[in-house]
Amino acid sequence: MKRIGLLTSGGDCQALNATMRGVVKGLSSNLDELEVYGFMNGYRGLIYGDYRLLTSQDFSGILTKGGTIIGSSRQPFKLMRVPDEKGLDKVEAMKQNYYKLRLDCLVILGGNGTQKTANLLREEGLNIIHLPKTIDNDIWGTDMTFGFYSAVNIATDAIDRIHTTAASHNRVFIVEIMGHKVGWLTLYAGIAGGADIILIPEIPYHLDKVLEAIEARTKAGKGFTVIAVAEGAVSAEDAKLSKKEMKKKMEEKKYHPSVAYELAAEIERASGTEVRITVPGHTQRGGSPCPYDRVLSTRLGVAAAKLILDEQYGYMVGIVNNKIKKVPLGEVAGKLKMVSPDDQIIKECKLLGLCMGD
Ligand code: F6P
Repeated sequence: MKRIGLLTSGGDCQALNATMRGVVKGLSSNLDELEVYGFMNGYRGLIYGDYRLLTSQDFSGILTKGGTIIGSSRQPFKLMRVPDEKGLDKVEAMKQNYYKLRLDCLVILGGNGTQKTANLLREEGLNIIHLPKTIDNDIWGTDMTFGFYSAVNIATDAIDRIHTTAASHNRVFIVEIMGHKVGWLTLYAGIAGGADIILIPEIPYHLDKVLEAIEARTKAGKGFTVIAVAEGAVSAEDAKLSKKEMKKKMEEKKYHPSVAYELAAEIERASGTEVRITVPGHTQRGGSPCPYDRVLSTRLGVAAAKLILDEQYGYMVGIVNNKIKKVPLGEVAGKLKMVSPDDQIIKECKLLGLCMGD
């Protein structure tokens, strides 16, 4: 009899349920030889002992279901060593709940922050397996995270829809895409949606380059421009500021809710061109996983099950060159996978004539 815990933490995404289903199916076709505990709402459930025994019923029909059947929450890694308001030692509490249930392993689905806490628990002696979820695709040691391609589909659809209205009205449109501090989602959706200008955090943008690209399109008889901007994109000017200076600037600029609004104001001021903004926001994380994510998450889940059966713990399971791979958690935790301005894909974008803001 194996006893495992499941936990989904951080911002949700598509295919969390599909991944958990993969783990459980990979461990046993019926749950008689298996006890699966779901910790509710991420690490909060593990800290405060909020869990429930899951049955085969729970894993039925969830391959295509968005969100997470056990809930999620954000529990910042940097606060894990800080006692809660009642003085509870969170790390100790998590260990106690793990031992109380006599778990063989805790399978943790999450992004970067979640992974750091997963590694901390591994260092504390718990048997941990981490599975890389996030629409941002910024986890080191895996080519893809589940959730990413589903979000690419949604963000691409948003750009496609903006394209037709932008063309009809001869307008400049900005579509702001999620991705936190990295540009993968914007890059992929921007290329797939045929955006004319793609701005990502890894390549600080120069306003004059953006204006030149809009102007060049106008001169070429194309009256509209679609700009895909990552929520974390920054201007070359702002990229030079220290953290403190940036914070001050952000406070002064409170009237701009996000980069899209700031950029739109700059374009309007400099060129007099009217700019419209669309922010698909959390729709990018919602709904059913795309087929790629269903396959990826099922493969990752089954591979995690195999590791548990082999009693191999302390790994993240990722995909590298289309092969499922186990990667030591200690080697990847805390590292961010960013787009490099020298990446082949960036060079291809430039050959394609896309403006990347530099
Ligand atoms: O990490 C996933 C993500 O959707 C990012 O792309 C985004 O910056 C962030 O989460 C939003 O977080 P929240 O849902 O807490 O607002």
